[in-house]
Amino acid sequence: MIFYFTGTGNSLYVAKQLDTELVSIPQVIKGDLHFQADTIGVVCPIYGHEMPSMVKDFLRRAEFQTGYFYLVLTYGMLHGGAAELARDYLQSVGKSADYINTVMLVDNFLPAFDMAEQVKQDKKVEEQLEKIKADLRQRKHWVQKADLKNRMVHKGYLKSVNNQPETIWAAYTVTDSCVGCGICTKVCPAGCIHLEDRRPVHDLKNCQACMACIHACPKLAIQMTISEKNPRARYRNEHISLQEIVSSNNQMK
Ligand SMILES: Cc1cc2nc3c(=O)[nH]c(=O)nc-3n(C[C@H](O)[C@H](O)[C@H](O)COP(=O)(O)O)c2cc1C
Ligand code: SF4
Ligand code: SF4
Repeated sequence: MIFYFTGTGNSLYVAKQLDTELVSIPQVIKGDLHFQADTIGVVCPIYGHEMPSMVKDFLRRAEFQTGYFYLVLTYGMLHGGAAELARDYLQSVGKSADYINTVMLVDNFLPAFDMAEQVKQDKKVEEQLEKIKADLRQRKHWVQKADLKNRMVHKGYLKSVNNQPETIWAAYTVTDSCVGCGICTKVCPAGCIHLEDRRPVHDLKNCQACMACIHACPKLAIQMTISEKNPRARYRNEHISLQEIVSSNNQMK
């Protein structure tokens, strides 16, 4: 059994490579959180080197009865010691994992990266996944270590955001290109968006900063209020369909 959270499909793609029993965290988080399986995994992106707040909440509240529990964190350019940070978070809520690793894929963080350039980089994703699959087959006990550079980067990052990760990115505008199709409302894992007069309105209280709404808009009509590297380029993992993102995240049913 593998739980996942995804904005643009990277984490869903990784989850699909690791297990066949897939469970979307946004779809189960409001229900009974008791789970039992021989092996249980969780896959999610990192935002500012840490797991999305919904995933943290899920991990805090869920009860897992399993013989082997692992986390795989997807990231784009610098993990900042994400595995150790996830281990520390689990410890702080009285839990632990047998194995925590990271996988580098396309970085979907629009203020820093041009998606048209990111997709050209060969990050050797399949090789990384093969190593993780072998580790999981052996039920390896291991947490990826952070080197000094990654630790320093995370420290510097926390200082720069005044210890308030996530909220700083959650600010979007909608341009006149919007055609009122409603896709943005359906890809949001936190149910933050509704249409008023065929225009999306963001209620950012629970925003996860996943950027699914921005990346999925077919008209490029949602833009960040802070400057983007390339407002004309958007991203979805090449192996994942828009329908899969909607099925994973839609809260508007
Ligand atoms: C708000 C935000 C913050 C991010 N922070 C980091 C980061 O600190 N380090 C990094 O390497 N990638 C970062 N990323 C990139 C994502 O972690 C990466 O692209 C991930 O694989 C996306 O997964 P998804 O497609 O399942 O949503 C960030 C992305 C977003 C949207
Ligand atoms: S996905 Fe884009 S075009 Fe469709 S309603 Fe949302 S902002 Fe408008
Ligand atoms: S409003 Fe956009 S960025 Fe925020 S959680 Fe929803 S889809 Fe993600």
